[in-house]
This record gives sequence, C-alpha cells and structure tokens, in this order.
Amino acid sequence: MSERQADDNGRSGKSRQGRQFVKFSFYKLDPAFRRLPEENQRAAKLEFLSAIRSFNRRMLLRSYSLVGLRADADFMIWQVAETPERFQELATAILNTGMGPYLHAPHAYLAVTRRSIYDIGAMDGEDAAAERLVIAPGDHRYLFVYPFVKTRAWYALSMEARQAMIDEHIRIGRRYPQIRLNTTYSYGIDDQEFVVAFEGDNPADFVDLVMELRESKASLYTLRDTPTFTCRHLPLAEMLDSLGGPPIAADVALFEGDADGWIDALSLDALPPGDSAQVYIAGQQVALFNVGGTLYALGNRCSHARGPLVEGRVEGDGDACTVVCPWHYARFDLATGQVVDGVATMPVPTYEVAVRDGVIRVRARQPAVERTL
Ligand code: FES
Repeated sequence: MSERQADDNGRSGKSRQGRQFVKFSFYKLDPAFRRLPEENQRAAKLEFLSAIRSFNRRMLLRSYSLVGLRADADFMIWQVAETPERFQELATAILNTGMGPYLHAPHAYLAVTRRSIYDIGAMDGEDAAAERLVIAPGDHRYLFVYPFVKTRAWYALSMEARQAMIDEHIRIGRRYPQIRLNTTYSYGIDDQEFVVAFEGDNPADFVDLVMELRESKASLYTLRDTPTFTCRHLPLAEMLDSLGGPPIAADVALFEGDADGWIDALSLDALPPGDSAQVYIAGQQVALFNVGGTLYALGNRCSHARGPLVEGRVEGDGDACTVVCPWHYARFDLATGQVVDGVATMPVPTYEVAVRDGVIRVRARQPAVERTL
C-alpha cells in the first residue's frame, strides 16, 4: 500500500505526514466594496464562499471575524495543510473572486508544526510533543493570535535553565484549562520565530493568563509578541455577513453534506485499488483506503500519539483488513477502527463509505452536527 494524499485535481501524490504547515491570513476589505450595487456585493460574497469551500477536502480551514475588534483587519482565514503550495493556491483563488480587487492583506504568518525540544509531555502526563505535530482546533468562540520572537540571550542559556522556565510556563498555563494553546514554528520561513494561537471562549480568561505569564522568568526573554489579534470564530457565510452589505448566511448551508449526512470526499479514479489517500471532512483528517476494490474510511490520526494511518501498511483482504500505524506499529481493524494489536488502547473513528457517480462519499457513523466553512 502506497501513501498518498489527495491533490487539487482529486488525484493523489506521495506525502510524508509528520508535520503540518500553518498559515494565518488577515484581510481588510476596502470600503469601496460596500458602495457596489447590492447584487454585485452578494454575488462576490457567494463567489468568495464557493472558492474557499472548494478547498475544504484539501486542507483545514477556519474563518474568523475581526470586525469591530481590530482596526487594520476585518477577517482571518486559519489554514492548515501538508504543503505550503496549498496556501498559494487558496490565495490565488481568493484574489480571482469578485471580492479579490477589494481585499488588502495587512498581516500574514507562515509556520510549521514540530515536536517541542523541551519536555512538554512529562509535564502534561501525555504525549503532548506528538500532539503538537497536528493542528486539531477545538470549537472555541475566540482565537488569540500573535507572532513571537525570543531574545538571543534565551538561546545562550543552558537547556536545564530553559526547561525550568518552560516548566513554570506550563504550570501557569495549567491553571487555565479553558484556554488551549497551538504553538507553531517559523524559524527561517517567516519574520517571527513562532506563531502562537490560543483558543478560548472568553477573552477575559486570556487576559488573566497573559498577565500571569508576564510575571514568569521566561517573559524576560521575550523580544516581540505583537501585533496581537482577537479573532471571533464564525462560519464563513456569517463571517462574510459581518463585513456589512447584503446578507448571505440565511441562503447558504452552514453544514457540510446532503440531508442524509453524506459528504463528497474524492474522485474514485484518484484512489485505485492498493492506494490510500487523506482528505479533510468537516475539519477532520480522514484516511481512505482501497483494498482490492473495497473502500474503507477511518480517522487518519492514530489514537496512541496521532501517527498518520494513511501512511500505514495495510494487511489482509476481504473482511479482515488491518492498517499498521507507521509510528509505533499499533494495528487497527479497517472496518471497525478497533485496536487489534500494539500500544494503542482506544479505537479510531470510522466512516461509512459509498460511491455515487464516480465520487467516493463518506458519512460519520455517529453524525456530529459540525459547522463548516
Ligand atoms: S502513534 Fe503510536 S502507534 Fe500510532
């Protein structure tokens, strides 16, 4: 079984999945857009929405409104993909919509996931270091984003000294379980060293956390941690309506899939027998397998430490197919997601699979009503 990942044309290509690229793109809408005839504004919004939704299977996308919260940006698109090329393709698609000529991009941050060099897992009692390779946003109302640069003096400290300060940082963070941290790395690929994105439901909680962190020893070694963006999570149509002009949210589906919950995932031609592919469904990574003409779909991330199952070795045929996680070799039943062997203790989710008009469709076995772009 080869490892493949769906590309723009619904085909597949070789991919290694340990790390993900992350982009935070901030946009400001030119007021001239709101002086266009209402039908033009509405058509441009729908075109924008359609352009972004066309990327839903290829990358993780989240939309946020900053209208009324920040003067120099109106909205932000949080993007997670396996290659940076996706970000360029999405940006071009956005520029080619009717809104494109009216959009400025005052801020944009590029980063990549990686394992922390510090002992994060021991502090958190879980394999948090592995978790950091995969961005899995929660459903929080707000995202707080800022670029982060440390002083060069930080890097001259011993590892022991740095670890002690990181431990203090983590102890403070654990007093705020309602705030969730996503740290990504930008060394050499963008101006900052990190992009930090905290998820939470109440900005006041985040204020309290940041005030406490200011008193930590590590804070002495912060060179820059601005600008700071408070972003409100909204489905794409609602985010577009927050920009003003004729509303569209009431006329477009907020949920993916048809009335029965089936979602188009990938062209069948792109997944010949013996292949596997990864797609995004409602923001979740799903691994598709074609084993001798029988299709399987299950959550791509191993329940042990989030290894990419799409890259795993498939064994067996008929009703007894398994996939072996490439990281620590836990074995999962492709049909049920249950652990058959190895270090994993929890199953991975599975999806029903069907083919209609040459398109592979999937449906969650336990439908979770999930908002989408
Ligand atoms: S990540 Fe450890 S077995 Fe899969």
